[in-house]
Amino acid sequence: MDHLHLKTVLCCIGTRPELIKMAPVVKAFQRSSACRCRVLLTAQHRSLVDQMLHFFDIHPDIDLNIMKANQSLPELTARLLVQLDSALADEKPDIVLAQGDTTTVFTTALACFYRNIPFAHVEAGLRTHNLRSPFPEEANRLLAGRLSALHFAPTASARGNLLREGIYPDTIHIVGNPVIDALLLAIQRQIPLDIPLDPFKRMILVTAHRRESFGQPLRQICHAVASLTQRFHDIEFLWPLHPNPSVKPVVQGLLGRNPSVLLCDPLEYGPFVTAVSRSHLVLTDSGGLQEEAPALGKPVLVMRENSERPEAIWAGVAKLVGTRSETIVSEVASLLQDPQAYASMSKGGSPYGDGKAADRIAQIVTDYLATPATQENTLAHPELPKSPVSVSLMQPAIRALHLRQQQIPVPHEHGLENSPPPTPR
Ligand code: UD1
Ligand code: UDP
Repeated sequence: MDHLHLKTVLCCIGTRPELIKMAPVVKAFQRSSACRCRVLLTAQHRSLVDQMLHFFDIHPDIDLNIMKANQSLPELTARLLVQLDSALADEKPDIVLAQGDTTTVFTTALACFYRNIPFAHVEAGLRTHNLRSPFPEEANRLLAGRLSALHFAPTASARGNLLREGIYPDTIHIVGNPVIDALLLAIQRQIPLDIPLDPFKRMILVTAHRRESFGQPLRQICHAVASLTQRFHDIEFLWPLHPNPSVKPVVQGLLGRNPSVLLCDPLEYGPFVTAVSRSHLVLTDSGGLQEEAPALGKPVLVMRENSERPEAIWAGVAKLVGTRSETIVSEVASLLQDPQAYASMSKGGSPYGDGKAADRIAQIVTDYLATPATQENTLAHPELPKSPVSVSLMQPAIRALHLRQQQIPVPHEHGLENSPPPTPR
């Protein structure tokens, strides 16, 4: 087909994890001759995404250059919405894709809605069922999901969440998570880690950046790391610091002089994946790492009170440990001292995909664009409960009662206990 008559797919990317997870999707569209793929970088993150562009060989067609130091959510949201709208007016895409739960994703979905352009959500349906945690990501996912014409759910459980919200079933596709596609690419390249690690020590990889962890929780995490280095002399920590001003100076201040803690700048994806492979275990509040580390057979202790990624927890390869210093110390100590506990958490597995998510997404989008009939009514909600409940702001017990009264299955609570998986619907 003549290039001018091809449908245009616009992939919008804002932050580091979005670039990592959308890169395989962009590549899949570029391999196919069925659509014209354009890349819009909002650059909600600047250095963190620029660092990844080279590794994935992505060349944005549009760069909104949004990031400002210490940006607030309202100003970020407002600037994104206005500039995205103007980019959509210029580009006139036939469909727009974005991945995940950031402000870039929410504003992209909203800007598309205002211009009546179909929006497809990659990594759809992840929920903690707590609007305040992660903040603002849970709300961003809900809002983007409500405005999406196509939902690319990574797992059956994510699909179940969308069905419970009344999303039209034919618009939900379980495709896996393209993070596994990116991970396989990085493993294949075997990029060396240019950091001198002690070959006689077990390395624990740490990352933290969530807004809920700012302040006291982050200080607790640092205290846990410090006390572990005092208790165990055969371990060292590698912590690539997120540049957020609420993170980097705090960690540097508390751990900067500890000889068993290597603080470094954010690593490019290749070396970072090498660091995960080289680690003994991972301590993190990151979403992406909860998906990557299990695929590499590394136990993940998740320093959060809940997770929208329950599958690795159900599989026994990830564990919620919260941000209390004593709990983190005792959970890490158990993995360091108990070979059985370590073996059971390092058995690996990849609940998040097989590395073919991006090709599936490209094919489904191509089919969608080729059949105008499927584009009608995709925002309809035939299963929406008659009196929807504002479930997430209620106490769990009240919420459960309310849902039962309406005969709606109660969403699974991902609390600190390791809970059994719900029956897939
Ligand atoms: C954002 C996302 C979060 C995601 C995380 C991934 C929102 C509201 N938050 O959080 O969901 O998990 O990215 O890392 O969408 N900064 C730099 N250089 C960079 C990136 C950030 O200096 O390359 C600093 C800037 O001062 C910036 C601040 O970090 O203002 C915060 O960035 P922002 O994107 O608003 O929030 P994150 O905490 O990075
Ligand atoms: N990552 C990286 N270099 C680093 C730290 C993280 O490449 O120094 C990758 C990591 O492999 C994962 C992603 O960045 O794919 C996670 O990003 P982040 O923790 O910022 O965001 P989240 O996943 O929590 O949204």
